[in-house]
Parts: sequence; structure tokens; C-alpha cells
Amino acid sequence: MSGITIKSASDIEKMDEAGRIVEETLNLLAKSAEIGMTTQELDDIAASYIKSRGAEASFLNYNGYPKSICTSINAQVVHGIPGHVRLKDGDILSLDVGACKNGFHGDAARTVLIGNVPEETQELVRVTKECFFEGIRFAKPGCRISDIARAVQAHAQAHGYGVVRDLVGHGIGRHMHEDPEVPNFWDNTRFGRGARLEAGMTIAIEPMINLGTHRVYQLDDGWTVVTADGKPSAHYENTVLITEGEPRLLTLHEEEERA
Ligand code: MF3
Ligand code: CO
Repeated sequence: MSGITIKSASDIEKMDEAGRIVEETLNLLAKSAEIGMTTQELDDIAASYIKSRGAEASFLNYNGYPKSICTSINAQVVHGIPGHVRLKDGDILSLDVGACKNGFHGDAARTVLIGNVPEETQELVRVTKECFFEGIRFAKPGCRISDIARAVQAHAQAHGYGVVRDLVGHGIGRHMHEDPEVPNFWDNTRFGRGARLEAGMTIAIEPMINLGTHRVYQLDDGWTVVTADGKPSAHYENTVLITEGEPRLLTLHEEEERA
């Protein structure tokens, strides 16, 4: 038996609202992030914006997580905790935001460039976004989670990148993390055949792609995940609704942001 939930029309309306708030918060953070700023200042901006929209930050207090957003710099893959560190020229910054409104969550992430970033790292950021769009070609009824995973993996590996295996995307709805798991690589022995997708499912597809090795580890803070070789990592995520036709991106409404 699968625990995957199918959302009703009214659930979807609420998820769209939560998704819009996440998208607007990310756009505000991307505009605000600049050299010399601390990641805590970005957390403050996000916290007050999410509140002003009548929503709650999904991450705050989640399993004891202490902040409203995640800010992961350079070799930090995900779950970087905002704090006193200042952004500097040449950094890449992965911003991950979740918001809950009327009982439903939205979750999305973007990696942004701070100042003058080396071309090799810019390419990583571009290709990570492309990996997401390769994946959603299979986000339709009749396809399986494994089709999405394999498409993401193939695009990343064609560029010689490492695909993070220790963290995966997820179903989302009344809970931030629901079934099914949505990996960015596929291993039959670990995952089996993978769930078949149906209209009304909502999933967060979130490639985490490394310039070097796929291997990662967690810092002593209990959250921050970093690459094993210290090379940069990028993250790109949207909350996606499966429909009978094309998938609907609940955290990406602005057409010009699409690949
Ligand atoms: N967006 C992340 C995810 O999909 C959530 C951050 S973990 C938290 O798992 F603890 F900070 F919430
Ligand atoms: Co997520």
C-alpha cells in the first residue's frame, strides 16, 4: 500500500497559494542577496515576508530546525543554517524556502550567484536547473518516479557532475514531507520499480548536483550537508502538481523563469 495522497481541487488551490508565497519569498531573497550581507539578514527578510502573507515558515522548528529558511554556500549542499557569515564575491548561495498556508505546504529552492562567479561554477548552477526541467518531462500520469530520477541523473552525469544520493525529493501537501521519495538517481536494489504517477499527486523535485564527487557528509551542527571534496554544489527545486496534461509548477508561475 502506498501512502501517496491525491489532492482535491480545493487542496490544489491552497497549495497554489502556499507555492506563490514560496516563489515570491525566493524572488525577494534573490534580489536582496548581495556581497557583505549576512545569511541571518536573509532569514529575517524571509520570515517577515512569509508572515506578512499570512503564512508560516515550514522549516522553523521542523525537527528542531532553528531558522525559517536554509542558506547553503558553495560546498554546502543543503540545510545550511542562516547566521553571522557574510556573503562574498564569487559565492554561490542556495536558498531553500518552505511556507504553509491554510494547512498546505509549498517548498522550493534556487541557487543564486553572488558577484563574479567562476564560469565553471555558473555552468553547474545552470545545469542543475536544467536537470529539474529534464526530470519534469516525466512528471505525468503513467510515468514512474524512476523515470524522473533517471532523467535528472543522466543530464547531470553527461556533464561529469556528482548526483547527491543521500538526500531525495518528496511528496508534499498537508505535510512538508510525504510519500513518495523522489530521488535524483536510480538504483533498483534500493528503490525497486518506483511509484507510478497519477493526476492530483504533488511532489517536490529537487536535484542537488555537485561539481565533483557525489559524496556528502553532515557537519556537527546536525544540519548542514557539505560535499566530501569541498567543491561547490547547486540545488534547484519546485513543488509540482501532476495533471492529465503538462505538470503544473506551484512554486514557479513567472514564465521567464522557466528553462
Ligand atoms: N526543503 C527541504 C526539504 O525538502 C527542507 C529543509 S529541512 C528543514 O527537505 F529542516 F530545514 F526544514
Ligand atoms: Co524539499
